[in-house]
Amino acid sequence: MELKWDVPVFRPWIPSKLPSLPLLLMLVLSLCLFSPTKCLDLDPDDKSSLLCFNSSVQDPNRSLATWVGSNCTNWTGISCENRTGRVVSVNLANMNLSGKVLPCLCNLSFLEYLNLSGNNFNGTIPTCFGSLASLKTIDLSHNSFSGVLPDNITRLGQLRELVLNGNRQLGGDLPWWIGNFSSNLEKLDLSSNSFNGEMPDSLFHLKSLRHLDLGDNYISGNVHEFYQSLEFLGLASNKLFGTLPCFSASTKSLTVLTLANNSLVGGIPTCIASLEALAHLNLSFNHLSYGISPRLVFPEKLLVLDLSFNDLSGPLPGKIAEATEKSGLVLLDLSHNRFSGKIPLKITELKSLQALFLSHNLLTGEIPARIGNLTYLQVVDLSHNSLSGSIPLDIVGCFQLLALILNNNNLSGEIQPELDALDSLKILDVSHNKISGEIPLTLAGLKSLEVVDLSSNNLSGTLNDAITKWLNLKYLSLARNKFSGNLPSWLFTFEAIQVIDFSGNKFSGFIPDGNFNISFRSNNGNSVRDPKVPFISVRSIEIKVSAMVIDTSELSFTFKVSSMVGIDLSDNLLRGEIPNVLFEVEGLEYLNLSYNYLDGQLPSLEKMWNLRALDLSHNSLSGQIPGNISTLKDLILLNLSYNSFSGSVPVNQGYRRFPGAFAGNPDLCVESSGEGCERGSPPAEPGKTFEEVEGPILVWVFCVSAFVSFYLGVVGLFCSARARSYILQTKV
Ligand SMILES: *[C@@H]1O[C@H](CO)[C@@H](O)[C@H](O)[C@H]1NC(C)=O
Ligand SMILES: *[C@@H]1O[C@H](CO)[C@@H](O)[C@H](O)[C@H]1NC(C)=O
Ligand SMILES: *[C@@H]1O[C@H](CO)[C@@H](O)[C@H](O)[C@H]1NC(C)=O
Ligand SMILES: *[C@@H]1O[C@H](CO)[C@@H](O)[C@H](O)[C@H]1NC(C)=O
Ligand SMILES: *[C@@H]1O[C@H](CO)[C@@H](O)[C@H](O)[C@H]1NC(C)=O
Ligand SMILES: *[C@@H]1O[C@H](CO)[C@@H](O)[C@H](O)[C@H]1NC(C)=O
Ligand SMILES: *[C@@H]1O[C@H](CO)[C@@H](O)[C@H](O)[C@H]1NC(C)=O
Ligand SMILES: *[C@@H]1O[C@H](CO)[C@@H](O)[C@H](O)[C@H]1NC(C)=O
Ligand SMILES: *[C@@H]1O[C@H](CO)[C@@H](O)[C@H](O)[C@H]1NC(C)=O
Ligand SMILES: *[C@@H]1O[C@H](CO)[C@@H](O)[C@H](O)[C@H]1NC(C)=O
Ligand SMILES: *[C@@H]1O[C@H](CO)[C@@H](O)[C@H](O)[C@H]1NC(C)=O
Ligand SMILES: *[C@@H]1O[C@H](CO)[C@@H](O)[C@H](O)[C@H]1NC(C)=O
Repeated sequence: MELKWDVPVFRPWIPSKLPSLPLLLMLVLSLCLFSPTKCLDLDPDDKSSLLCFNSSVQDPNRSLATWVGSNCTNWTGISCENRTGRVVSVNLANMNLSGKVLPCLCNLSFLEYLNLSGNNFNGTIPTCFGSLASLKTIDLSHNSFSGVLPDNITRLGQLRELVLNGNRQLGGDLPWWIGNFSSNLEKLDLSSNSFNGEMPDSLFHLKSLRHLDLGDNYISGNVHEFYQSLEFLGLASNKLFGTLPCFSASTKSLTVLTLANNSLVGGIPTCIASLEALAHLNLSFNHLSYGISPRLVFPEKLLVLDLSFNDLSGPLPGKIAEATEKSGLVLLDLSHNRFSGKIPLKITELKSLQALFLSHNLLTGEIPARIGNLTYLQVVDLSHNSLSGSIPLDIVGCFQLLALILNNNNLSGEIQPELDALDSLKILDVSHNKISGEIPLTLAGLKSLEVVDLSSNNLSGTLNDAITKWLNLKYLSLARNKFSGNLPSWLFTFEAIQVIDFSGNKFSGFIPDGNFNISFRSNNGNSVRDPKVPFISVRSIEIKVSAMVIDTSELSFTFKVSSMVGIDLSDNLLRGEIPNVLFEVEGLEYLNLSYNYLDGQLPSLEKMWNLRALDLSHNSLSGQIPGNISTLKDLILLNLSYNSFSGSVPVNQGYRRFPGAFAGNPDLCVESSGEGCERGSPPAEPGKTFEEVEGPILVWVFCVSAFVSFYLGVVGLFCSARARSYILQTKV
């Protein structure tokens, strides 16, 4: 009998057009229902193979409880050939299964499709897979498989898709046969594993290959020319070197090319722009140098161009797309290079642009007013350049703007009242410029603001009530300006606040008491301590916006603010007593009130469990040092110097732990063990200052939006743990 199992899913492979399994089941089901001939039961041999496979699988969700009886349509994840009852497809993706894959799975000798993706299977990939001669698809991605790729797989001459990404323990030398064991192989995804060695020659010649992803491994060697027409080439995060080839065999087909995070050198060849189908080009985090040729003009299809973190120099490319006004470019990242000169006006003609990153270059001149023509723009980062002039009023044309990041430039002029039109704005950072004037009252309209950094400018005036309307505020810094007047009574009423920094101004009067609505508790579980960067200077604050391309049509922005949780009112003209409630704020990690004229006594600090830095130096505080300082285990900085404290400090209770913390308090004496108080004031060596001390870093991640509605009509919201870890891994 001639066996024929022409289930649609196994028709010639078309990328990303495989019908989903439910559809397939429906199909098989309806075939059974309406077919005059009786559907055959699940083949008994295959049934016992499956039950044997099940016996070593942990299934906490009991997804496989349906594996009873002999009706194939009943068996979750299994499809059978409709006449013979032989199992042709096993799709157990994303079922939270774990355990070892037993070799009895290989007794399913008619299997064509195997998908165990997104589970927690471990152990090695069974060598017997080589005997599943009909296999066309293997997807074992996102599991915990370990070891090497078994040689027996070379026997799978029919294989079209081999997808093994996301198994960190899977690796070894990239096998020499990987490029020529199946002349049908169209998709090979070994990304996010631990493969090393060089790419074998066969890989560059395999005619059928369309999709090759070897990203995030330890692959070395030169980047070669590929001789087949690829559609997707992912080689990011490896150890590749050499110069960039032209990929000329893929001129008509290559849509995604990412070589980010390698060690490529040399210039960007203009031939890259003749890749007609290119939608994503990511060459960031390499050592590419020289200027960008004016002839490097991309097709209109290009959606994403990321050349950040290289050594590129010369003027910014003006003409990025052939017909600028038709360009679909949504993300342009040229940051962290050495581009100089002005921002070309042509950039403001890239109408689809949603994210523009030009930070950390040597750009001069003014921000072009025409930037306001970019009405889809959501993120602008022009920070760390030498831009001058004022913030153009026309920027209100970018009415969807989420983040306006212009810090560390030479911008001057005033903050215009009309900026209130940017009512989606979540991040406003114009710190370290020469901006003067007052905060306009109209800015009360910026109700979405979460992060505001106006520090290190020439801003002045008293604080008006505009700020009270920013109810979602998490971070507010007005430090190092010329603000004056009393601190407003609403200062401590923002419910989500993490940082208030008003240091280095001329605020006077009392620290407001009462109205304490805040607790600096971690925000909604969105804050994580990054174990890789455990320490950061207390004052150091970093705001990072990353855009991530999820697939060809979705862009997601992640905003990350790294900072300690705290209040800094140091270096002002504040007087009077410190309100006791300030010592009772939950979750506070630092409190700096130094260099003021504060007086009165300190309460006990027993509620400040999280305190890591406390600086009250250079005030007129008096009375006893609170007895329980030694119980604050996390405290790494204490400075009470240059006050009028009196009484005694027990040696074993902080004096040794914080040398210098008590200097300049003439009436204070140090109590050595058992012998009472030793007269003579503590040494005059001053305590550490805030800048010198390193504290833990709070990496605070929040996703803001994902939006690409004009391209495919897809609006996606994406804020998954995976997106976060990607950002943490690559752009920190
Ligand atoms: C089995 O499926 C194929 C195609 O899917 C169909 O042509 C054939 O008629 C079916 N056989 C039976 C017995 O239902
Ligand atoms: C798998 O096949 C082998 C022989 O090919 C047989 O010995 C073994 O019992 C089978 N296992 C199951 C679970 O069917
Ligand atoms: C699968 O195996 C588990 C034990 O590992 C068992 O409890 C369960 O009944 C088995 N399922 C079937 C359908 O046999
Ligand atoms: C399994 O199949 C039988 C027919 O063979 C059917 O009566 C039963 O409802 C099915 N069970 C489930 C859970 O679908
Ligand atoms: C198999 O089960 C499905 C429902 O799950 C039912 O519609 C179908 O009739 C059953 N087939 C046989 C042969 O019992
Ligand atoms: C495996 O299943 C997952 C989840 O359904 C799906 O996203 C993936 O595309 C499948 N893999 C293959 C190669 O079809
Ligand atoms: C497993 O079951 C739990 C609830 O019982 C559910 O929240 C979870 O989404 C399920 N996981 C999978 C992979 O189906
Ligand atoms: C997966 O199963 C484990 C138990 O083995 C359970 O703790 C976990 O919550 C499950 N995850 C999901 C997504 O269902
Ligand atoms: C697989 O995981 C189980 C626990 O889930 C563990 O006992 C076993 O040692 C693991 N096997 C391997 C090879 O890592
Ligand atoms: C797999 O290959 C090894 C040698 O590489 C061999 O010893 C073993 O028998 C093979 N197993 C199968 C199932 O083909
Ligand atoms: C694969 O390539 C190697 C050399 O690269 C060659 O020796 C071998 O014969 C090739 N195998 C097939 C099946 O083409
Ligand atoms: C862009 O802005 C300028 C002035 O800012 C204006 O003259 C021009 O018409 C605008 N172009 C488009 C296409 O909107």
